[in-house]
Amino acid sequence: MDHFVYRDGVLRCEEVDLRRLAEQFGTPLYVYSERTLLDHFDRVREAFAPLRATICFSVKSCQNLSILRLLRDRGAAFDVVSGGELARVLEAGASPSTVVFAGVGKTDAEIVAALRAGIGWFNVESEEELANLARLAHAERTTARAALRINPDVDPKTHRYTTTGKRETKFGVDLDRARNVFRGFRDEPGLDLCGVHLHIGSPVNTVEPYTQALTKALALIDELRAEGCGISAINLGGGFGAHYDGSEAPPAAVYAQRLVPQLADRRLSVLLEPGRCISANAGVLLARVLYTKSSGDRQFVIVDAAITELIRPALYGSFHFTWPVAPRDGLAPPARRADLHLPGSVLVDVVGPVCESGDFLAKDRWLPPVARGDLLCLFSTGAYGFVMSSQYNSRPRAAEVLVSGSHTRLIRRRETFDDLVALERF
Ligand code: LLP
Repeated sequence: MDHFVYRDGVLRCEEVDLRRLAEQFGTPLYVYSERTLLDHFDRVREAFAPLRATICFSVKSCQNLSILRLLRDRGAAFDVVSGGELARVLEAGASPSTVVFAGVGKTDAEIVAALRAGIGWFNVESEEELANLARLAHAERTTARAALRINPDVDPKTHRYTTTGKRETKFGVDLDRARNVFRGFRDEPGLDLCGVHLHIGSPVNTVEPYTQALTKALALIDELRAEGCGISAINLGGGFGAHYDGSEAPPAAVYAQRLVPQLADRRLSVLLEPGRCISANAGVLLARVLYTKSSGDRQFVIVDAAITELIRPALYGSFHFTWPVAPRDGLAPPARRADLHLPGSVLVDVVGPVCESGDFLAKDRWLPPVARGDLLCLFSTGAYGFVMSSQYNSRPRAAEVLVSGSHTRLIRRRETFDDLVALERF
């Protein structure tokens, strides 16, 4: 999987033996591959180069300052969803004009901070929010450039919790309303409403939902332009897939093959907000086996990572390929989830120490035999992994390490007990 490769029976990230990182920095540990991050970013950019698309990395997927700076240096713009993420990208050195700000519930304080910073685009989700944005921008004696997020009522065929493009979700404005919103806010002081924003959900492993949504958006844009509304940009959002169980995600070029011709000659600036297709396969979570036990007819592998480090399996039933860093009998990992039942493997639940039955990382999983002290790797955890971690059960958050070739850098130190109580007062 990308630059995480087994060599001589041991998993390496680029040139680095992951056993060494676990010893040096402890576990649970997030490890990212710089080369993988950059390769995935480049693939999206190259695929959409014919449109000169702006690639706004979705900060919510993986927010570490060092990673943001790395991507900024490679030419990334940024998609943020809070004042905190805005402050983060500015801290990482992003130029404010490259920042787009989405989210259904922006507070006045967040909007004012973004106006003062001079961000590129507000992706706005309702009439009330637009009116508020115009009011605040006017008071700040500035003009906010905005895209209206439309809800195209398209099924992205993904988990219902991460489906956003269907009518019943809280996101965007349906097409009928959208028409009226553009008309109503056309001459609003403080506002330049000149973009259309879409984000239908994630991960979306087929291109069809995008083409359907885009067809609807382009029809709206044609209609609005015919009425004299100057629409200059379209933002297609994020959601391109990543590899969780093998090679299920189409490469960016496959999405581009269909979307680029649809957008060519449209006189539209194009923006994209990919997160996971850049970061998911660029990160892994290392966990140490604490104990193994049998109970009833089940076998448990208890590791030192938990839902506090990786909540995706519990929250979405997500599959994260899991395998020992140095399998005892040298069993090489199979290429696909469907092929996990190798001779000698054992059916186990990989669980964490947290006091909840929902605290599992892998359920009913065939693994090579493991024992106390072994290291397990949970793959494809670079997106929505560390960023969704918590301190539940007073567990200090894990450390993060960035690998580049044979070079490693601690980019977030492990939290301590003092960190856990630092904000509390008697
Ligand atoms: N743009 C907008 C407006 C979004 O809401 C999102 C993700 C993205 C872009 C980036 O989507 P991506 O390319 O990373 O798929 N916690 C869930 C994912 C929630 C996604 C929320 N929005 C998970 O672990 O799968």
